[in-house]
Amino acid sequence: MKRSILSLLAICCYIFVSAQSNGLQLKTTEQLVLETKNQALVLQIEENKDVNMAYLGPKLHNKQEYNMLASAYKQADDYTGMYKAAYTASGSRNLLEPAISVIHADGNQSLDLKYVKHQQREIEPNVTQLKVTVKDAVYALEVDLYYQVYAAENVIEQWAVIKHQEKGTIELTKYASANLNIKAESFWLKHYHGDWAMEMQPEETKLTHGIKTIDSKLGTRANLFQPSAFILSFNEPSHEDVGSVLLGGLEWGGNFKLDFELDPQDNLRILAGMNNHASNYVLKANEEFITPKFLYTLSNNGTGEASRNLHNWSRKYKLLDGQGERLTLLNNWEATYFDFNENKLFSLLKDTKKLGVDLFLLDDGWFGNKYPRNGDTSSLGDWEENKEKLPNGLISLIKEASSNDVKFGIWVEPEMVSPKSELYERHPDWVVKQENRPEYYFRSQLVLDLSNPKVQDFVFKTLDDLFIKNPGLAYVKWDCNAVIYNAHSPYLKEQANFYVDYVRGLYKVLERIRGKYPKIPMMLCSGGGGRVDYGSLQYFTEYWPSDNTDPLERIFMQYEYSYFYPAIASSNHVTDWGKQPIKFRVDVAMMGKMGFDIVVSELPEKDLQFCQQAVQNYNQLKDVIWHGDQFRLANPREEDYASILYVNKNKDTGLLFNYLVNYRYNTGTAGPIKLKGLDPNKQYRLEEINLYDQSVSPIDKNQLYSGDFLMKVGFNPQLKASRKSVVLKVTANGV
Ligand code: DGJ
Repeated sequence: MKRSILSLLAICCYIFVSAQSNGLQLKTTEQLVLETKNQALVLQIEENKDVNMAYLGPKLHNKQEYNMLASAYKQADDYTGMYKAAYTASGSRNLLEPAISVIHADGNQSLDLKYVKHQQREIEPNVTQLKVTVKDAVYALEVDLYYQVYAAENVIEQWAVIKHQEKGTIELTKYASANLNIKAESFWLKHYHGDWAMEMQPEETKLTHGIKTIDSKLGTRANLFQPSAFILSFNEPSHEDVGSVLLGGLEWGGNFKLDFELDPQDNLRILAGMNNHASNYVLKANEEFITPKFLYTLSNNGTGEASRNLHNWSRKYKLLDGQGERLTLLNNWEATYFDFNENKLFSLLKDTKKLGVDLFLLDDGWFGNKYPRNGDTSSLGDWEENKEKLPNGLISLIKEASSNDVKFGIWVEPEMVSPKSELYERHPDWVVKQENRPEYYFRSQLVLDLSNPKVQDFVFKTLDDLFIKNPGLAYVKWDCNAVIYNAHSPYLKEQANFYVDYVRGLYKVLERIRGKYPKIPMMLCSGGGGRVDYGSLQYFTEYWPSDNTDPLERIFMQYEYSYFYPAIASSNHVTDWGKQPIKFRVDVAMMGKMGFDIVVSELPEKDLQFCQQAVQNYNQLKDVIWHGDQFRLANPREEDYASILYVNKNKDTGLLFNYLVNYRYNTGTAGPIKLKGLDPNKQYRLEEINLYDQSVSPIDKNQLYSGDFLMKVGFNPQLKASRKSVVLKVTANGV
């Protein structure tokens, strides 16, 4: 049977990658086809053993027809024969942006990678991995190209493993994770820029010939200016429900570089990986250089479906405990900043209970004795309770929390060191800095050299000690407020390896923490959203999108984050930022993992009652937000309002959030907004919840509408100046 299948495939000149093809050696022009539910990626091994990416796009009904791709896409000679290379090597025939470039042990800079073998295996049901090995004919250097496919979610991860057996070390001067080749008439790129409190500002542009680069050279807090997340759309700008789009990003919390090269034949080449800036990586013989994963999803039905692909995929496979529960919380950062003591915290613990949330999170300012942390200019690294503020230690707060029936969490920034700290005095050689130059600070602090295993031990021990000394510690907010200046490791022999080895060191620490504390919820914070990516999120249960919690701003920001990350991961806190009333602030925070950072005792009684009721509503409906499907109904950048719907997988409960974002005269929802994701055959009721005080909703909660009607005609939430925020519970009849 096996033999007959293989001979049939050989005649058809294509190999459909299956368990049959493990370790297969191909003879002539052959194809490796990877399919997801709706998409296909086709690699072609040419007669000269070049490996090309022949196709990335909608899956074909008839698998035999993949072998007609070459004739269908036939273009003029490209001078090199490698514009479509699956991993473009530099220094031989290549004339375009390479995926890999190298200085061999003998100083030669040429590379030409040829097919050697491939292997495919099922990692688990729904997840298939293809490994294609390519090798240089002259130098003992080979690369394993990995393609991991998540069928149901239409997600693909790509990465590369580079190794050599040359006599001496080599320098990797470029080392992309992935090299895609895509065909379309034109390409549009939506990418993001920002700064502190201004994360995720989108821009969409038509790609022209040449290279458009998105990169970071910040070292850590690497997304401060721009993240690697992007939306690529084919033939037209991206739309929510129509058109072909690719949503992608690098799973890496450090320097990255994504090149979008429109080649001379109008095809798009994407080269994505760690940034090679100042990083000619020195690689010893037989050592494996493993790149981070580049992840993407494709959709033929616009960004909405693509986002749901990513949400489903990340909750199932990447985000820590993505399918689990989360804790609502009260944070003290904006309520107290550095100014607190045990008594003040005791009363905040009471407020936590009063509000009805699960946990109290003690933020910055609890540590340092020789140099007490009373501002942001000292003490990072001295992770012991400040005796004046907390004479009885954290343990006393944990006990008090427990007697109030709430949990307790703590803020740390363990990768950092203040110049004014005992840690710095003890270990100046643990700090990233140039010995012969003046120190230069970001938020008055420096970065610890995580390429040094001793520093890794210290950071691990910081967390480990906190957990050992404080059983009951239930949550960690891990902050990272500085970028890397004067990049230099006192530890590393090869300075060019620093930027890469820093992040690897950080991940080693996080691996160890997760090895010992697999489920403790941790928030990924980086002075806001300075480090939100899927490389980091595998260790964290949630992220802090921005210090900007003005709810109007947050509507825009959370909308953009939602293209890539599920709501369960988005920590949204109600604070005093912005001018909106409490209802508006709470409604916006509900679209994710809700928390508060306000002085509860100063809330007017009616505001407090509203918050308490909203927390109860949230507890009843949070599962829909966390684990349901998200539908973006109205984009605040295109309309006077935003509208976002969450629907559970059974399609019997939904939550529809609507906000007015333009406050000019007479703005509002003049007509219905079309819902999505409902069952057309079910009957639904819409009931307004989160009503402030005695306000009466104009919406009739007893009226039934079919899903068909709500999706074809829609529903008007009646947003207007006096109703700027409207939350509707959507319930199927009989539920
Ligand atoms: C920056 C974070 O984004 C804030 O939420 C807060 O934790 C401060 N750091 C504390 O210094």
